[in-house]
Parts: sequence; structure tokens; C-alpha cells
Amino acid sequence: MANIVLDNVSRTFRRDGKDFLALDNVSFTCNEHEFVAVVGPSGCGKTTCMRMAAGLEFPSSGTVSVGGKVVKEPGPDRAVVFQQFALFPWKTVHENVLFGLRSLGVPKAEALERITKNLKLMNLEGYESAYPHQLSGGMQQRVAIARAYVLNPDVLLMDEPFGALDAQTRTVMQEELLRVGRANPRTVMFITHAVEEAVYLADRVVVMTRRPGAIKEIVDIKPIRDAENWQQYDRIEDVMDLVSFVHLKTRIWRLLREQHDPGDH
Ligand SMILES: Nc1ncnc2c1ncn2[C@@H]1O[C@H](COP(=O)(O)OP(=O)(O)O)[C@@H](O)[C@H]1O
Ligand SMILES: [Mg+2]
Repeated sequence: MANIVLDNVSRTFRRDGKDFLALDNVSFTCNEHEFVAVVGPSGCGKTTCMRMAAGLEFPSSGTVSVGGKVVKEPGPDRAVVFQQFALFPWKTVHENVLFGLRSLGVPKAEALERITKNLKLMNLEGYESAYPHQLSGGMQQRVAIARAYVLNPDVLLMDEPFGALDAQTRTVMQEELLRVGRANPRTVMFITHAVEEAVYLADRVVVMTRRPGAIKEIVDIKPIRDAENWQQYDRIEDVMDLVSFVHLKTRIWRLLREQHDPGDH
């Protein structure tokens, strides 16, 4: 079972010679094949949660487990997509997507097949030999997502993956991610500070408090999305117009607003 479980996780960091609490007793689960968005004020510890699931960071107390095993290091069952696409600028699109497969020891013919399939999925056919600087931001991020998907990971960890994109490209990417996710369901932890994005993409939204980050509330989206049949609409703007969508968005906005400290800009 490829679930992600944060169980009573706290994390202390040291800054200016003093310890400070960044995460305070955080518990939430991303069930198998569930898309969970995590929203919260800047600095509340969202990235830290994701890095813990990735095995790049560790709790001071509590446990983080994936598929029932306590996370001790990064692994091929988990792929990470960062806000800054983190492509190798000196490698082509093909080479960038191939990179992770090499270290998994996937045979050449199979690697080629998987790369072709995933580049197609991300509408990147014909760009195999292009270099990142020759691509738009949206295309670079599609390469980064193809590079994650090609590993066929059980778990996708995405840290504000669309944060650096312009609004229009971002919308297209959100629609693509939903389309791809329906065809290939994965367990996803998706960090964002965009509430609309969270409501549009996620089955559940974890709302965090300001620092030290704790769970404010976990909002169910899927039952409402299914009941109101959002899936009948292909375009995000049609979904965003629905009363049920606006209602959820407003509810999450209010939860976040309660976190805002007017003295803290
Ligand atoms: N390695 C680290 N060393 C010291 N402080 C850190 C480290 N990583 C994160 N922090 C601090 O922990 C808090 C939470 O950071 P982060 O998880 O990046 O928040 P978010 O992603 O929600 O903006 C911030 O105050 C940040 O400065
Ligand atoms: Mg962050």
C-alpha cells in the first residue's frame, strides 16, 4: 500500500544559536491513490513535510512512513517535482528524462519505450533533442513531471510545481495533471499556496497553521466533487464557476485568513 503517513511529527531547527519549532505535532495521511494538497502560510513547514516524505529531511519526533515503512532515505518508490524545475541544463529533454531510469538499471529498450510514452503523455513529442533553455517554462515543467512519471513511482511529491509559471500555462498544467492522474492514479502529496489549485486538483486539502506549523483542518473535496460531478467539465474555469467550488474555496480561504498575523508580512 503506497500511502504516506505523518504521525505526530515535530521538527525543530536551529537558527541564530536558538532552537525554534517549525512543525508542531503534525499528523495526516495521503491514502493510496489519493491526491492530497497541503496549503498554509509561507514558512509553516509545507516543504519540510514533503522533504520528510522524500527522505531528504527527518522529524525531531514522530514518524513519517511510506507504504508502511519508516522513511530513512530517498527511494525509487517516490519521485519529487520541485518548484524550480531542476532540469540539467546541459542535457537534452531525452537525457533529462532518462537520468533517473539509468540509476534504476532499466534496460535500454524499455527505457526508450517508457520515455516515449511519458513525453507523449506530457505533449512533448518532437522535443526529445531540445535543451531546457530552448523550452518555455511550462514545457520545462512538463519535462520535470515526465521525468518523475517515467520512474513509475507509487508516490509523487510535488512542491509548488506550478509556482513559477504564468497564469495561463499554469491552468493548462493543472488540467493536464488531472487528465494524467485519471489515467495513472498515484498517491500524491501536492504542496501549493494557491487555494483554487488545491480545490481543483485534490481529493482532500490539508490546511496548516502559521509557524509553528500544525494542522488547522483537513477539508474533504472528493465527495463534493463527485456529488456535483465536476468531472463533466473539461475546463478549469467552468469548474471554478460552480457554487460548490466557490464554497469550498471560500471555506479554505477563511481557514487561512484566521492564520494571518497582521504584524507578519
Ligand atoms: N534546514 C533548515 N535549517 C533551518 N531552518 C529551516 C530549515 N528548513 C526549513 N527551515 C525553516 O523552517 C520553517 C519552515 O520552512 P518550510 O518547510 O520551507 O516552509 P514552507 O514550505 O511552508 O514555506 C521556516 O521558518 C524555514 O526557515
Ligand atoms: Mg515551501
